[in-house]
Amino acid sequence: MTDRYAVIGNPVDHSKSPQIHAEFARQTGEDISYEKLPAPLDAFEETARQFFSNGGKGLNITLPFKRKAWDMAHSHVGSALDAEAVNTIALNADQLIGYNTDGLGLVTDIEKNLDFSIAGKRVLLMGAGGATYGVMQPVLEQRPERLVVANRSLDKAVGLVGHFQKFKDFVLGGISAAPYQALGRDQFDLVINATSAGLSGEMLPLPQGVFAPGSLAYDMVYGLDTPFLKFARLHDARAVDGLGMLVEQAAESFYIWRGVRPQTAPVIALLRGTL
Ligand code: ATR
Repeated sequence: MTDRYAVIGNPVDHSKSPQIHAEFARQTGEDISYEKLPAPLDAFEETARQFFSNGGKGLNITLPFKRKAWDMAHSHVGSALDAEAVNTIALNADQLIGYNTDGLGLVTDIEKNLDFSIAGKRVLLMGAGGATYGVMQPVLEQRPERLVVANRSLDKAVGLVGHFQKFKDFVLGGISAAPYQALGRDQFDLVINATSAGLSGEMLPLPQGVFAPGSLAYDMVYGLDTPFLKFARLHDARAVDGLGMLVEQAAESFYIWRGVRPQTAPVIALLRGTL
C-alpha cells in the first residue's frame, strides 16, 4: 500500500518538497505519495493530527510551524532537541517522533557537495532566528576553530549563544555573539547567511574584509541571487545558495522515513535547471 507523506506550512504552494520526494521515490522504487498540506495559522496541530489519523506516515514542517511541531512531537531525536524546532515528524507506533534535518542538510551540502571542510575554520553565522537554531548543533559538531553569531538584535544572538554553550568544547576558539558593527577586521573562512534579509532584497551590514582568502559564502535561501551573495562574489568569496541544503535535508527525512538513502546530486541538478 502507498504510504502517505506531506509538507505542512503556511504558505506551502511554493514548496519544492513534493518534486524532490517524487524523484527520491522514483529512484529508490519506494511506494510513497507526497503532497502539500496547507494549514491555517491557528490550526497547525489540528491539521497535522487529522493527517496522521487519516493514515499519514510522516510530515515535513516548514514556516511558520517548526516550533509548534517541536511542541507537538512526543519525543525528539538528535539536533531537534536543542534546536527547539522540528522539520520532520515520523509516526512510529502511535508516537510522533520529531527530527530536525536542516542542520545535517546544510553540513552535508557544504562538506560533501561543495567539498569544504568546516573543521578548524573560522565560521560566521548571521541571524539568530529559528533557521540558526536549526543548524547550530550540526555545525558545531564539525569542530570549527571558532563560531561567531552576528545579529541585528544583539540580545537574540546572546540568548542563542548561551543556549548552545553546552557544545563549547567542540570549538577551541569559543562560540560568541556580536553585532555586525563589531566584526571589524575579523576574517572568516565560512560565512553563512541564516537571516531572511535576502528574501526582501536587503543587504547585511558586513565589513569589507570579512572574507578570508578562499572563503565560502553560503546563503540558506535558494534560487535567489541575494545582495549577500553578490557582495561575497565582489570580494572574491565562493558564493553558493541553499538549494543543495534543501535537497540534502529532504534526503535525510526520506532516510528517516524509509531507511533508504536517495542520490541527491541528480535531484539538485534537476532543480537547478528549473529555477
Ligand atoms: P527564521 O525562523 O527564518 O530564522 P526569524 O525568527 O524571523 O526567521 O529570524 C529572521 C532573522 O533574520 C533574524 O535573525 C533577523 O534579525 P533580528 O533578530 O534582528 O530581527 C534577521 N533579519 C531579517 N531581516 C534582516 C535585515 N534586513 N538585516 C539584518 N537582519 C535581518
